[in-house]
Amino acid sequence: MNYDEIFPKIISHCKEYGFIFPSSEIYDGLGAVYDYGQLGAELKNNIKTAWWKAMVQMHENVVGLDSAILMHPTVWKASGHVDAFSDPLIDNKDSKKRYRADNLIEEYIDKLQAKSLKETEKKAKKEGWEPDSENYQGFLKNNRDAKKAQTVYENYVKALESGDLNALRDIIIENEIACPESGSRNWSEVRQFNLMFKTQLGAVAGDASDIYLRPETAQGIFVNFLNVQKTSRQKIPFGIAQIGKAFRNEIVARQFIFRMREFEQMEMQFFIKPGTQKEWFDYWKRARREFHEKLGIPASRLQYHEHEKLAHYADAAEDIQFQFPFGFKEMEGIHSRTDYDLGRHQEFSGKKLQYFDPEENKSYIPYVIETSVGLDRTFLAHLCNAYTEELAPTADGGQEERVVLKLPALLAPYKVAIFPLMKKDGLPEIAEKIFKDLRYDCLCTYDEKDSVGKRYRRQDAIGTPYCITVDHQTAEDNTVTIRDRDTMQQERIPIHRIREIILEKLDWRNVL
Ligand code: GAP
Repeated sequence: MNYDEIFPKIISHCKEYGFIFPSSEIYDGLGAVYDYGQLGAELKNNIKTAWWKAMVQMHENVVGLDSAILMHPTVWKASGHVDAFSDPLIDNKDSKKRYRADNLIEEYIDKLQAKSLKETEKKAKKEGWEPDSENYQGFLKNNRDAKKAQTVYENYVKALESGDLNALRDIIIENEIACPESGSRNWSEVRQFNLMFKTQLGAVAGDASDIYLRPETAQGIFVNFLNVQKTSRQKIPFGIAQIGKAFRNEIVARQFIFRMREFEQMEMQFFIKPGTQKEWFDYWKRARREFHEKLGIPASRLQYHEHEKLAHYADAAEDIQFQFPFGFKEMEGIHSRTDYDLGRHQEFSGKKLQYFDPEENKSYIPYVIETSVGLDRTFLAHLCNAYTEELAPTADGGQEERVVLKLPALLAPYKVAIFPLMKKDGLPEIAEKIFKDLRYDCLCTYDEKDSVGKRYRRQDAIGTPYCITVDHQTAEDNTVTIRDRDTMQQERIPIHRIREIILEKLDWRNVL
């Protein structure tokens, strides 16, 4: 099936099987806010565990943190979020729809590039050109749409770099970019809109002060830099990692859990000696991509993407993009943040945030390499990668369609499903005994309803990698069958070896 047709199916699959529900659904939902259901919560926790193991457990020089969501309001002044954490927005005066001006332009560039690729492929087919031939590459670079895409892109980068909102609007007007909803080209001015959610601390209106829900977890790490460094006695280079909620009042919140107003980040700030940032940036860029590949994301669905415009605090930034059904999009950012954040907090708080380097015998503000991955986007990437529709053999020798989530075993919500073949002849008692023993090791489920074929389909649809069936032979020789979700092959194994076999399959050593 076409990869882009899959997205609506994945969204309804998530709802049908209890992975993700719209928030407050009985009140018609809340825009771009979602709840994770019983299976979604498990998958999410398993991704968090994988990240925590890879970052904290596997690195002696990375420690964890769990800082508060609410922080002193000056934190966000120092970090630059109060003044600069905004999106350039444009309204369509006819449809009354609001868009991010940068997104409208990027989508226009993507369309031009897709058109030029299509045209090149058509020509190549006719002329017999290979994709790596000079003819192919020359035609791809020089056709009308490709050249136009390049010009628009250059003007766009210039406008972003100079922060010129009028120039962004000019690109939209000159290229006759239309409102995707109504086709109208009647646009307002472009304005900046701050994305932070404001709330109040204190009960009495007059005494209350404005505070913000954190838009990133990173600042909790920066303000605790010395607390953690001193109490953990870490020496530079070392990192602080944390997983937690972040909130952004996204204006254009679309694409399911890809862009939400409440989401989770898994971030790590790695504190280094100034001057070593290039080396550590390259290290973490590679390590983070490897993490996704080790967890089963195919290399062909990942790519690096260099930022068009660097944030004011960064001297290098690249994204790791995943090929979502709607294109290659950011899943993780690797940022070289210099000494900006610690320097600003030192300035605004008046407290020294320096590290005494015993080797150099001097104090300095460390530089920082940040790795920041969206938990929800990683979840979505795994779902998109795992969701498969295929034909499976039936007991009577025919075939039927099955939907299967080919999730890595360590991420799957249930690891093992245990079935008695029938609800009689003492089979349920044996199956329950196996279930009750194995649940100490991993999350298991017990199911005795419907035919075994139907039970297999139910487990395939939620990604359970192994199904154990207790049948009449079990009563005779203490063996069961274990079925592999992906190959659908069954193997007969003794009951006393179940635990050893399952634990071997669930060993983090085989993944990280
Ligand atoms: N501390 C750096 C930082 O927050 P970012 O690129 O703004 O950088 C990091 O965010 C990651 O957080 C992104 O790569 C993405 O995976 C995730 N993310 C950002 N905004 C999001 C949103 N509205 N919904 C879901 N995930 C989001």
